[in-house]
Amino acid sequence: MSKVDVVIGCFYGDEGKGKVIDYLATSADVAIRATGGDNAGHTIKVDGVKYAMHLIPSGLLSGHTVGVIGNGVVMNPEVLLTEINNLKEHGFDVDKYLKISDKTQVIFPYHRLLDVALEKARKSKIGTTGKGIGPAYCDKYERCGLRVEDLYADDFKEKLEELVASRLALLKFYDPETDYDSILKFEEVYETYSKYAKELKRYVCDSVTLVHKAVENGQKVLVEGAQATLLDIDFGSYPFVTSSNPTIGGILTGTGLSANEIGNVYGIIKAYSSRVGEGPYVTELFDETGDRIRELGHEYGTTTGRPRRCGWLDLVALKYAKRVNGLTALCVNHLDTIGKFDKIKVCTAYDVNGEVTEDFSTNMKFLSSAKPVYKELDGDFGDIEGIQKFEELPEKAKDYIRFIEDYIGIPVKFIGTGADREAMIVREV
Ligand code: GDP
Ligand code: IMO
Ligand code: MG
Repeated sequence: MSKVDVVIGCFYGDEGKGKVIDYLATSADVAIRATGGDNAGHTIKVDGVKYAMHLIPSGLLSGHTVGVIGNGVVMNPEVLLTEINNLKEHGFDVDKYLKISDKTQVIFPYHRLLDVALEKARKSKIGTTGKGIGPAYCDKYERCGLRVEDLYADDFKEKLEELVASRLALLKFYDPETDYDSILKFEEVYETYSKYAKELKRYVCDSVTLVHKAVENGQKVLVEGAQATLLDIDFGSYPFVTSSNPTIGGILTGTGLSANEIGNVYGIIKAYSSRVGEGPYVTELFDETGDRIRELGHEYGTTTGRPRRCGWLDLVALKYAKRVNGLTALCVNHLDTIGKFDKIKVCTAYDVNGEVTEDFSTNMKFLSSAKPVYKELDGDFGDIEGIQKFEELPEKAKDYIRFIEDYIGIPVKFIGTGADREAMIVREV
């Protein structure tokens, strides 16, 4: 039996999970996505070509890794088919390597429409990606959502007709000004999804058996986390979160893997932090330093293009992510970006109404009162882009990494020194 490696985002997403997955996939037989949907955007730069993966596991880009869309995912077939065609155009043998769980939930047009209508109706916005993620998970937990296997069942038409009618009523309730009758027509949805079902059939599998057999046969399985710890529906800054569990529990329920099969749990962070969408963010910078991080790090959403909010690294939140996920090692991306600042701040504690603590809480009052306590470290690392050996980093850059390790108590195994696939330090730790 070979232990499964897991990649999990530690903050608010976009930590560079795709890049680490891409590296780990070089020695993986199977890479599986466990949660979320096309709200995710994982970027990998290969030979100057940028791939933005939304649904297909990034591991598939290795050229020899089977990419599985797990049962915990909510999948929009239109987006998936576009991604499949794009990868095929770039020469990837998607038909050979892509698998979709028969239990994956399917996103329908009414999910996306509802996502947008609900967000519009909300007084306090969440800033969702508008991809239908929340409404699709609502249907799953209401037990009326349709899984991939339902697309091929005899009663698919009947079930879909019922769902379209009831969701149409909901849409009209939330947004009476829009003419939804002309936007959401059952016959059109049925025809389109019957076509999608035919096109996707070749990829459908029993993913639970597939991953277990892989583990039993000594193959290397990798789980590609999407979103991140502080966006988790239970452990994130609720209600400013996504509708799934991107943390370790969701990794298990989203794949069918057991806790005993998990080996390394890699927590991914950037050397600073970012967030898209609404919600608390203790180390957010509202000044020109924040703007400079955004410009130097190209912090614009992979999925929506929205400018990301930026700030310093938050070790209090990272310690929480370590606890919740049982992280065994870290990956610190964008060391090249942070090294462009003369002085770097790192948040080591929160001051909550005069009380200093190193323990994170997702309580809204706590988060809105928390003021970051910073430790200032030396920056100005020089040009470290593309460096692949830890020894070749300047002392100040090494100190920055060691500072994180000392605080969190786990090693930094991977260090990103650029956006390219090769721009990474891998340490024996
Ligand atoms: P993900 O959602 O966690 O996979 O992250 P995204 O792909 O949404 O955002 C990460 C961004 O940072 C992408 O534009 C990556 O190309 C880029 N990136 C990742 N690691 C590094 C790094 O070490 N240095 C630099 N300069 N860019 C990086
Ligand atoms: P990756 O996998 C960053 C955020 C949205 C919003 C909240 C809820 O690329 O790290 P949703 O559409 O999920 O209902 O939106 O979650 N969000 C992400 N932010 N990266 C992501 O994915 C995200 N997926 C969702 O911006 O604040
Ligand atoms: Mg992303």
